[in-house]
Amino acid sequence: MSTETSYERLAEFHDLFMTEPWERLGPHVRAAFAQFGDGAVVVEVVEVVAGAAPADLGLLPERVDGFVCAHVLGHLGRADRRGLFAWLGSRLCAGGAGLVTTQRPETGRAEVVETRRLGDYEYRAHHLAAGARHEYTSLYEVRQGDRLVRSYRFTGDWRVLTAQDIAADLPATLALEPAGDGVALVRRAAA
Ligand SMILES: C[S@@+](CC[C@H](N)C(=O)[O-])C[C@H]1O[C@@H](n2cnc3c(N)ncnc32)[C@H](O)[C@@H]1O
Repeated sequence: MSTETSYERLAEFHDLFMTEPWERLGPHVRAAFAQFGDGAVVVEVVEVVAGAAPADLGLLPERVDGFVCAHVLGHLGRADRRGLFAWLGSRLCAGGAGLVTTQRPETGRAEVVETRRLGDYEYRAHHLAAGARHEYTSLYEVRQGDRLVRSYRFTGDWRVLTAQDIAADLPATLALEPAGDGVALVRRAAA
């Protein structure tokens, strides 16, 4: 079985197992951007514009009312995170807001197994404990009864980032406000 590194094939499985995280995050996103009108510019920092942060931020509008970095900052090294927030810090409008997901400090690794059923198929995600620091490995299996229909192994970089880690990445123009378990808001810092 080959080990894959890109999101191209991972996306199918990733989205299947993101229902709960987004059920928790949805109310925070709505609350963070509720004050914005229809014309507001809210950007989600993810490779939807076929670009990566911070290298391709120039593809985004010059003025930003809001931004979302959900389950993505752990893929960025410190320099890239700081580059991203420096860019956002110079473009977030007064009264603007960003939402970032955060994690609790890492306390040792254990394998986590999740399952989802879609019709006759059971999808299993094994998030493996093994692997170097700042690296994740997951094995996804699709089963029909006892038969293993297909399986994929993914590995990539992931850093566990707490609210404190992300606050340390912000330029002086931005400030972080914890907004609940696993989520924080980023606003312009008081002058
Ligand atoms: C765990 S998924 C999260 C997707 C979505 N934000 C969510 O919450 O469901 C991580 C995403 O980060 C993207 N990504 C990884 N490195 C990135 C970078 N440097 N810039 C922008 N997006 C990146 C991947 O393509 C992938 O879509």
